[in-house]
Order: sequence, then structure tokens, then C-alpha cells
Amino acid sequence: MKKVLVTGGAGFIGSNFIKYLADMRGSWTIVNLDALTYAGNLENLKDLEGSEHYIFAKGDITDRMLVESLFETHGFDYVINFAAESHVDRSIKEPELFIKTNVLGTQCLLDAAKTSWQTGRDADGYPVYRNGVKYLQVSTDEVYGALGNTGKFTETTPLAPNSPYSASKASADMLARAYHRTYRLPVNITRCSNNYGPYQFPEKLIPLMIVNTLDSKPLPVYGDGLQVRDWLHVKDHCSAILTVLEKGQPGEVYNIGGNNERANIEIVRLILKTLGKTEDLIRHVEDRLGHDRRYAIDNTKITTELGWEPAYTFEQGIKETIEWYCTHTDWLSHVRSGAYMAYCESHYGNKSRPGGI
Ligand code: NAD
Ligand code: DAU
Repeated sequence: MKKVLVTGGAGFIGSNFIKYLADMRGSWTIVNLDALTYAGNLENLKDLEGSEHYIFAKGDITDRMLVESLFETHGFDYVINFAAESHVDRSIKEPELFIKTNVLGTQCLLDAAKTSWQTGRDADGYPVYRNGVKYLQVSTDEVYGALGNTGKFTETTPLAPNSPYSASKASADMLARAYHRTYRLPVNITRCSNNYGPYQFPEKLIPLMIVNTLDSKPLPVYGDGLQVRDWLHVKDHCSAILTVLEKGQPGEVYNIGGNNERANIEIVRLILKTLGKTEDLIRHVEDRLGHDRRYAIDNTKITTELGWEPAYTFEQGIKETIEWYCTHTDWLSHVRSGAYMAYCESHYGNKSRPGGI
């Protein structure tokens, strides 16, 4: 029976992961620490309200006192850090927030884990930790920068982040690595490709294009639309994270991806076709500054060493995702009107405190 701190659990991947973990490891206690920024939506986790194994704590991962008090109260075995500012376009407009949350927040969590888990020192002066603990840093393939027409990112590809977002994630990733090398903290780092699936905020490519198509609004395609991303269903990302958490070798990095490269324009056309709309809605707009041309993940290490494999084909996953956005009209209308923020406030507003509600 493990106690797990999941940060950023009200966001897209974090909320999918909490539900996946509750299904797969029902006896574990999950504490979700989330600041509820615009990207955090507790409606994603309605199913778990009232569960004795799930606790929500509203707060910021940069808040040292809060993070330390959560460790003291709950005695976590695992930390999985999803909390981040995650949107590249926002990072181009407002880099500072990305440095604060993604870099300083990660350092705060690493420090709290180190302090809480340390039981002594070995003969060489290195900290020794309680058995069975682990810190998992959810990183991204964007830390590797951009590829040309060929090749894939492996775990040994040098980091070359190009946006303020990816630079902040690379910094966090390097901090996690350093805490393993310097303090021998049991750490894993995962670097996943682009996720899609239910509960993704409609600022990212796939949900934005679905929502605009449903409304017959223009679909803004950056530049020529021939940039390539390697898409993975969010549930496959969740199963990979649990696999790394339980089987990953401390100090190791694992790439996560499903060998599914698609050009943006191909995805936009597929969504239009599935929803029975014509390509007249496509608008080629000004390109993103510093736009990475292509990402592709070599997933050999996680598949051969840990036995993980994706379950979804893209055809099945995108079909289900489009259907999900068509049928979850309440969720979507609350997101678009901002009512999801009011939901969070009315359910948790002032009641949230360290240790959960
Ligand atoms: P998201 O933007 O949907 O969710 C981020 C969550 O973090 C939100 O609930 C938000 O409220 C919370 N948060 C933000 N700042 C916080 C803070 N200071 N303290 C506490 N909580 C805070 O992001 P996502 O798409 O679910 O991504 C989750 C993680 O996975 C991120 O670390 C991201 O870098 C990484 N990642 C994402 C993808 C992808 O395709 N979306 C791919 C690979 C890796
Ligand atoms: O690769 C993993 C990363 O994937 C994660 O680390 C990030 O958190 C996540 O946001 C995502 O980053 P991208 O920049 O690849 O995702 P986004 O959905 O913003 O854009 C995907 C592609 O689509 C990219 O080439 C830009 C393009 N795009 C995006 C939007 C929002 C458009 O052409 N038009 C748009 O309106």
C-alpha cells in the first residue's frame, strides 16, 4: 500500500494518470497537489470525489512550507511531478512563469523528497534513503530540440531545447539528474512525445481543431503545417509512467513514444473529414517563433528493458478522442465559459489546506 504525491493532477495528463492509478492500484493513497491554474480542472476528477484513497490539496509546488508539510503528514513513498506550465505558445509570451513553476517548483519537490526520505549517510558521505521510495520527473521529448527529416531521439541525444518552455523542462530534468548523481536520490526521468486524448485543454492542437471544427470556426495552422509530431494516447503515457515508477532503474531516463509520426496538416484534415466538414476552414497563419520542425521518439529502451508497449493505434485513439469531445458537452462548455474555475472554487475554494480537504 503506497502513498503517492501526484503534482499537477488536475491537468490533462495528471488527471488521466490519477484515474488510471486508482484503477490499477486501488489500495494506494493518492494526494493531488495542484495550484489550479487555468489548466487545472477538478471536473476532470469528479469520479474520485469522496474516495477514501484520494485527497486533493490546493497549492503551489514552489511553496516549500506546504510541500514539506504534505510530506510530513502523508509520508509519501512516491512523487510524480506533472505540475508545469505546459504550453509552448504561452512560454514565448511569458517565459518567467515557466522558470518559476517548472524549474524552481521541481527543485522544491526534490529537496522535500530528499529531506523526508533520508535515513542517514553511507561511509562515503552519500545520503541513504528509506527503501522503496522514488521521485519521477515527467519531462518531455522537446528537451532534445528539433530533428530534420530523418532520425529519432534516443535517451543519449544531447539536450538542445529551443523554446522557453522546453528550456525550463530541460532545466528541471537536469536538476532531477543532478539530485541522483550528487545525493543519490532515487530518481527516474521520462521524456514523452505529444499526448492526445480526453480532458486536454483546447489550447493544444488536437482539441483546438476539434472544437473549432464543431463550431465551424477557422482552423489556425502555423506556417506550412508540415511540422511533424509523434502522437501517443494519454492512457499509454499513463501506463508507461506506472511501469517506470515500479520497474525503472534509479537514475535512468526513459523515452516514451508510440512510433506514430504525423504532420500537423494531416491531423487537421483527418479531424475535418471525421466531423464531415470541408477543408475551407483551414487557415495558414503566422508561424510559431522558433518552431521545432520534427520530433520522433526511439522507444527501444522502455520496450526492451521494461516491457512496456502502447495499447492504442492512432486510428482508434483519435476516433475515440473526437467522439469524447462531441459527447462531453458539459465539460467543454464549462471549460469554454470559464465555469470550471467556479466549480473548483465552490468545491474546494477556502476549504483546501495542507494535508488535503
Ligand atoms: P496541463 O497544462 O494540462 O496541466 C498542468 C497542471 O499543473 C494543471 O493542473 C495546473 O493547475 C498545474 N500547475 C501549474 N503550475 C502549478 C504550480 N506552480 N503548482 C502546482 N500545480 C501547478 O499539462 P499536461 O499537458 O497535463 O502536462 C503534464 C506534464 O507532462 C507537464 O510536466 C508537461 O511538461 C509534461 N508533458 C506533456 C506532454 C503533452 O503532450 N501534453 C508531453 C510530454 C510531457
Ligand atoms: O512533445 C511534447 C510536447 O507536446 C509537450 O511537452 C507540451 O507540453 C505539449 O504542449 C506539446 O507541445 P507542442 O508545441 O508540440 O504542442 P501543440 O499542441 O501546442 O502544437 C502541436 C503542433 O501543432 C505544433 O507544431 C504547433 C502546431 N499548432 C498548434 C496550435 C495550438 C498549430 O499549427 N496551430 C495551433 O493552433
